[in-house]
Amino acid sequence: MSLNYAIIGAGMMGQEHIRNVGLLPGASVSAIVEPNDEMAANATQLAVELGMPAPKRVQTVSDLVSANNVDAIVVVSPNDTHFGMMQELLHTNFPILLEKPTSTDVDQAWKLSNQASDRSAPVWVAMEYRYMPPVTRLIEEVRRGTVGDTKMLSIVEHRFPFLPKIDKWNRFSARTGGTMVEKCCHFFDLMRLITGSEPTRIFGSGGQDVNHLDETHDGDRADILDNALVIVDFENGVRASLDLCMFAEGSYWQEQVSVVGDAGKVEAFVPGPSRFWPGGGERASEVVISPRADKAPTREEVHVDGNLLAAGDHHGGTYFQHLKFQQLVTTGKGTPEVTLADGAKAVEMGAAAERSIRTGELVKF
Ligand SMILES: NC(=O)c1ccc[n+]([C@@H]2O[C@H](COP(=O)([O-])OP(=O)(O)OC[C@H]3O[C@@H](n4cnc5c(N)ncnc54)[C@H](O)[C@@H]3O)[C@@H](O)[C@H]2O)c1
Repeated sequence: MSLNYAIIGAGMMGQEHIRNVGLLPGASVSAIVEPNDEMAANATQLAVELGMPAPKRVQTVSDLVSANNVDAIVVVSPNDTHFGMMQELLHTNFPILLEKPTSTDVDQAWKLSNQASDRSAPVWVAMEYRYMPPVTRLIEEVRRGTVGDTKMLSIVEHRFPFLPKIDKWNRFSARTGGTMVEKCCHFFDLMRLITGSEPTRIFGSGGQDVNHLDETHDGDRADILDNALVIVDFENGVRASLDLCMFAEGSYWQEQVSVVGDAGKVEAFVPGPSRFWPGGGERASEVVISPRADKAPTREEVHVDGNLLAAGDHHGGTYFQHLKFQQLVTTGKGTPEVTLADGAKAVEMGAAAERSIRTGELVKF
């Protein structure tokens, strides 16, 4: 069965979705909703270059309902538009892939989850980091029992600063939900997935120390955290930490995930987007397994097809997520792997970290 996608918000990430839809079997982008003329033109040209018929540019979400060539919707507009957009979309029968964070506000995120509970068409929250091949490998090893009982989890992301965005929406916490929600909801989601447990308390320390200090927009100064350390305790006793630095684009590894249990350790090392690295070629990711018993760590390279790496900034994660979403929609079998409740919990943890950083308090759940 062929599948026609509508993209709502065809900016940087929307175009990553278009490139990845272009790699899926029997899939095409048939419509876009994009208020910015330049982005709409770029997205249309991209789709055509990928061999798709030119997608129709429609003005509103309700135009998508009357369009007869849309089978599924990908929401990729700025964070503060997601809730309002979903108020309209939840009344339709379209399967939806909704970019994280589901909302900038915790109550709204949970409201979405409740509103969708009796909806028959699926809503899948896009969490690309789950689907990066080295991270998937790490999770498989943890599930297989390689580390024994998980006790500690550490996630490090040392990367480039936030990129320029249309209307500078990502420079302001009011529009993003704050860095801990906007960017780090991915990592809080990974923490829940890897530990299989729920948080009991969060403490964070962070600041805006290097990036965007002189940036203003309509007289308002950018107020985005660019570094933080966050500690999370989980119900099952696992301790997790996040170390985020957004002025570290010289680092060889962008993400480092480490899980330690009573029997050993497994680590995943993921390089940043190839387009930002000299030469622009593939840098393989790595998974290292270090059992306690024999003190003989094994290191393996995880290779990702160059076409998948070139299609986005998420080490192939966007493609593998799309494959699963497509399978769910075309077969009608199964349920979304990342639900609106997962999305809401990730927003809630991000908001708790943001609050802890700003007030100094320990936030309990
Ligand atoms: N999962 C990830 O790893 C990841 C990575 C990047 C971005 N994102 C998410 O994707 C979304 C978009 O981010 P981006 O980096 O592409 O930003 P962007 O600014 O590059 O693109 C957003 C686009 O949405 C358009 N837009 C604004 N208001 C709209 C509306 N009401 N309806 C339709 N389109 C509208 C803008 O004109 C712009 O072209 C955000 O929610 C962001 O958090 C996720």
